[in-house]
Amino acid sequence: MISRNLLFAAGVAFGALSAAQAARADSVTLYCSADEAWCQQLARGFEEETGITVDMTRKSSGETFAQVKAESANPKGDVWWGGTGDPHLQAAAEDLTEVYADSPLRPELYDWAIKQAEASGNRTIGVYSGALGFGYNKDLLAKNNLPEPKCWADLIKPEYKGHIQVANPNSSGTAYTMLATLVQLMGEEKAFDYLKALHKNINQYTKSGSAPIKAAGLGETTIGIVFLHDAVAQAVAGFPIEPVAPCEGTGYEIGSMSLIKGARNPEEAKKFYNWVLQAKVQEKAAEVNSFQIPSNKNAKISDKVPDISKIKLIDYDFKKYGSSEERKRLLSKWDNDVASLPQ
Ligand code: F6P
Repeated sequence: MISRNLLFAAGVAFGALSAAQAARADSVTLYCSADEAWCQQLARGFEEETGITVDMTRKSSGETFAQVKAESANPKGDVWWGGTGDPHLQAAAEDLTEVYADSPLRPELYDWAIKQAEASGNRTIGVYSGALGFGYNKDLLAKNNLPEPKCWADLIKPEYKGHIQVANPNSSGTAYTMLATLVQLMGEEKAFDYLKALHKNINQYTKSGSAPIKAAGLGETTIGIVFLHDAVAQAVAGFPIEPVAPCEGTGYEIGSMSLIKGARNPEEAKKFYNWVLQAKVQEKAAEVNSFQIPSNKNAKISDKVPDISKIKLIDYDFKKYGSSEERKRLLSKWDNDVASLPQ
C-alpha cells in the first residue's frame, strides 16, 4: 500500500516540477551576433532586470542568417540581436523575420536606425553602427620592416604577403561588408581584381569578423581587416594595435536586430527588443570594450568610439547589398573567383 508520506512527497515533487516548468516557460532564446562579452552582458542584464531566462547563442552574422533560414519550418530562436545589417535585411526579404513597427523606443533612435527598419518593411531595426577599416600590430610591423599601411591599395602590395587576415564573407558580416564596400568603392570588376590580389596576401580566412584583430593582438598576424571599433577594443585591452581608416574611404555597418518569425516566445522577444533599445542599456557596451555608435540618441557615447565625422565614408547602399539576390550573387562569385584560387 502506498503510504500517505509517499503520496505527500510525490505531491511536493510534482508541485516543484510544475514550478520549474513554469519558470522555464518564461524564457527567451537569443541569437547574438556581436562579441561574446557584449552578448553575455545583455543576456545577464535582461535576466536580472526581468526574471526572464535568456538562452543565448553567439554566432557570426552570416552563420546566424543560415541558422534562422535552416530552422524556419520549426524556429528555435526568438530574437536575433546584433551582427551586420545586410543578413538581417536578407532575412526580412526572405520572410524569416516579423514585422514590428510599434516599439515605443523608436522616437529615441537616430534616423539611420529607423531607415534600416524602413528598408526592411519594419522587420529589422538599427542597434549600433561602426565603420570598416583595418588594424595592425605595431611591434610586428616594425619587426618585419614593413611600411605602415594607410589605404586599401597598400594591402595588395607583395610585401604584405602572408601578413593579412580577414574573415570569410559567407560566415562573417564584417567580411561581407568589406566585399560590398570594395564593390561600391571601385566598381565590381576592379573590386574582384583587388580581392584576387588581396587573396595572395591572406594567411587565413576566419569564421568570425573580429578574430583577425584578436589574432593581430596576440602577434599571430600583422594586419587584420575588421571594423575600426574592434581594432580600438584590442588597443584599449592593452595590445599594440593601431587602427586605420583607409585613405580611399570605407563602408560601415548598421548592426541590427530582428524578431524571428514563428518564435516560440514572441512576447518575451518583444520585451527583450524594447529593453535592449534603451539608452541606459546601450551605453553599457563600453564596459565590455564594445565601441560601436549606439542607435539611441540619448545613450552616452564613450570617448573611445571612433569619430565617424573624421572618416571618409561611402554612401553604403544597404538596400541593394542586403538584398537576397545581391548578397547571394556576390558571395558565390567570391567563392568561385577568389577563394578557389591558389595562394
Ligand atoms: O561585435 C563586434 C562586431 O564587429 C560587430 O560590430 C559586428 O556587427 C559583428 O561583430 C560582426 O561579426 P561577424 O563579422 O563575425 O559576423
